[in-house]
Amino acid sequence: QETAPEANSAHGMFDGVDLQRLAERIPTPFHAYSASAIRQRIGELQAALAGLDATICFAVKANPNLAILQLMANAGVGADIVSAGEMRRSLHAGMPPERIVFSGVGKSADEIAGALAVGIHRFNVESHDELLTLQRLAEAQGVTARAAVRVNPDVDAHTHAKISTGKAENKFGVSIDEARRWFAERGRLSHVQLDGLHVHIGSQILTLEPFRLALQRVAEFWRELEQDGHSINSIDVGGGLGVSYRAGTDQPVSASDYVNVIRTALAGYKGRVLLEPGRYLVAEAGVLLTRVIRVKAGVERQFLVLDAAMNDLQRPSLYDAWHDIVPVSNASRPLTTYDIVGPVCETGDTFARGRELPGCAPGDLLLIKATGAYGTSMASTYNSRPLAIEILLNQGRYAVVRRRQHFEEMIAGEQPARNWETT
Ligand code: LLP
Repeated sequence: QETAPEANSAHGMFDGVDLQRLAERIPTPFHAYSASAIRQRIGELQAALAGLDATICFAVKANPNLAILQLMANAGVGADIVSAGEMRRSLHAGMPPERIVFSGVGKSADEIAGALAVGIHRFNVESHDELLTLQRLAEAQGVTARAAVRVNPDVDAHTHAKISTGKAENKFGVSIDEARRWFAERGRLSHVQLDGLHVHIGSQILTLEPFRLALQRVAEFWRELEQDGHSINSIDVGGGLGVSYRAGTDQPVSASDYVNVIRTALAGYKGRVLLEPGRYLVAEAGVLLTRVIRVKAGVERQFLVLDAAMNDLQRPSLYDAWHDIVPVSNASRPLTTYDIVGPVCETGDTFARGRELPGCAPGDLLLIKATGAYGTSMASTYNSRPLAIEILLNQGRYAVVRRRQHFEEMIAGEQPARNWETT
């Protein structure tokens, strides 16, 4: 049974904009983000953090559109980046370097050098080799890098295996035993100020328990380090806060309950707290608008073929993720069961199987919901489909924040094999 659209998208209105009329002006498929909804989430989290020395660093990977990053920057939010490209986007959007933290297991020497040159706030270091590289490059530039060790607390986040990061078997972070050795030897680091801890156990986490467990382990380690005379000035609690993809089923934890877990675990801690939420800030603020190209009666199933595809939103094909899909206009027709698919030439290009929707006809407008995080950021031009348009909505008005990709842009950089060379 499909659930009703939530209040802000009921009657085809989203952030005061009539989506039906918008889709008459803008060709589908397109992503629409509500600036108000994003600001509301930022506000909720900031309110929950009141009294703490805390900085929210938006995980850029969730939605790197410049307009979104600008909105974040204007709201006082920083950036959690994982590549040189994300750093350049953040700076381009006006994010001050003092609010940028750099995470990731595979930072290249060039990326580290670039981030040092810009003077970002902090590196979340994930291996001893990276620590030594950071030391070497900082020394070469004559600067001191601020760094945190990303600990892997060996906690099960109870989320999809592909987005779980905090178990010992995962590639992320280092064990507390290894981190302890880094601190014991930190005197040898002339150009790295190792004074922070970082933890991120996974994404789309819907209960507090995994956060509680991970933070308890981090807090225990912080207390031990303090006792051993290692002052810790920064604890980065990562991201991972889940959202509702399935109305009536997913029950995300509230920002205040989440922050209370942080407050409790870190009681007595006086340094700065960093948070790296991605999905929580933007997922539910985004929808993917798409039209039905045709209704196809298969031998066993009815297919609704949309003009959006897995290249516009990978989550269902990649993680079997559920996204609510609702009609914008035809809500009164009798319910029919559909497999909702895109035009891409593989069976994985399926948004939903056996979904009940009011009977659909070609041209009908549908909303795929909660696509604001890991939608466009994971989009591709597979099947040589152009990247979808992105629209920012704000209290009754809209702005195109990514125009339609021209064919020439899609093939830019490709060239015939003309100048053959040898190594
Ligand atoms: N910090 C670090 C170090 C991360 O690796 C991530 C996400 C975040 C913060 C933000 O996590 P969030 O608050 O958004 O859960 N493509 C997947 C999600 C991958 C998440 C990767 N890391 C999906 O569509 O579900």
